[in-house]
Amino acid sequence: MINIMPINIERVKHSRLPEIDFNNLPFGRIFSDHMFVADYENGEWKEGQIVPYADIPLSPATSALHYGQAIFEGMKCDRDANSTDVLIFRPQDNARRFNQSAVRMGMPEVPEELFLEALYELIRLDRNWVPTEANSCMYMRPFMFATDPMLGVRPSDTYKFMIITCPVGPYYSKPLNVLVADKYVRAFPGGTGYAKAAGNYAASMYPMTLAKEKGYDQVLWTDGFTHEYLEEIGTMNVFFVIDGKAYTPELDGTILQGITRDSIMQLLREQGVEVIEKKINVHEIFEAHKKGTLQEAFGAGTAATIISISGIGYKNQHIDLPSAASRTVSEKVKKHLNDIKCGLTNDIFDWIVRV
Ligand code: COI
Repeated sequence: MINIMPINIERVKHSRLPEIDFNNLPFGRIFSDHMFVADYENGEWKEGQIVPYADIPLSPATSALHYGQAIFEGMKCDRDANSTDVLIFRPQDNARRFNQSAVRMGMPEVPEELFLEALYELIRLDRNWVPTEANSCMYMRPFMFATDPMLGVRPSDTYKFMIITCPVGPYYSKPLNVLVADKYVRAFPGGTGYAKAAGNYAASMYPMTLAKEKGYDQVLWTDGFTHEYLEEIGTMNVFFVIDGKAYTPELDGTILQGITRDSIMQLLREQGVEVIEKKINVHEIFEAHKKGTLQEAFGAGTAATIISISGIGYKNQHIDLPSAASRTVSEKVKKHLNDIKCGLTNDIFDWIVRV
């Protein structure tokens, strides 16, 4: 049992809350009043603090800015529809995954108790920022980065662990048209694909821009050997519904172990849908579409929740998926997941922490 030092709290003098239009929340641009900060020095985490949300001073030589030793998590919480409680979704799983990322990136682990207590304290303080409007919630962004002011390439000796939170509306406003990667690669066996490392996202920006120029919204990543086996979409995992069964690429170290992905698999199985994790070849998907058995494709992630895929491009081919009316599997599981997150139905898997 680790003893977590008390978290000092410096409250804002004037809350910005009255200025916020909760009916018009862009994703990730509005930040709540407070943030959590803890520093790692001399081999240990120092006392954490909650302070007013503000810019932070950094040396231009800050190691993370040059070599990318930086990781993050994405989490969500909602208001309970029937009480004043805030319901946080699977925070222990994010704490665990954060530390898996830390190990891979040569960074110190954050004790789970510190990660969770900091998060709960921050949410308690800014609970009025958690939206009650439909399709809105609070997004929480824990992150850690290397702070040594030095240009030598080696793991930093000092780090900052921070949590910022923002009330958000939907990440995507419409179903996505995705382009299967046939040249660039997001992750390779032995690389950092399974970690939530900043550099994984940095590497995706240029291919995403090229995909947008071709009229696509996101890249659907493939393996680096054949560019045929589907991995994940820029911000989320991917599912296909073929002949009533749900398929998702198996985890092989190059794919993020999505917590939404895992939740969807458990809920689908609970609903009696067979779920198969396997290597999925892009040609299987195009073949299923030709035979008329490809019913749905959707992305699944914390920020995106569940978002339908309306079209898939691969080299010189493109398929349009069946229209909204046939998205019965994803619509049902999305409702079940949202109902659990908002306290509207039984939390059968014990996923929610009430604060
Ligand atoms: C999330 O779903 O929380 C993510 O981290 C994806 C993205 C917004 C980077």
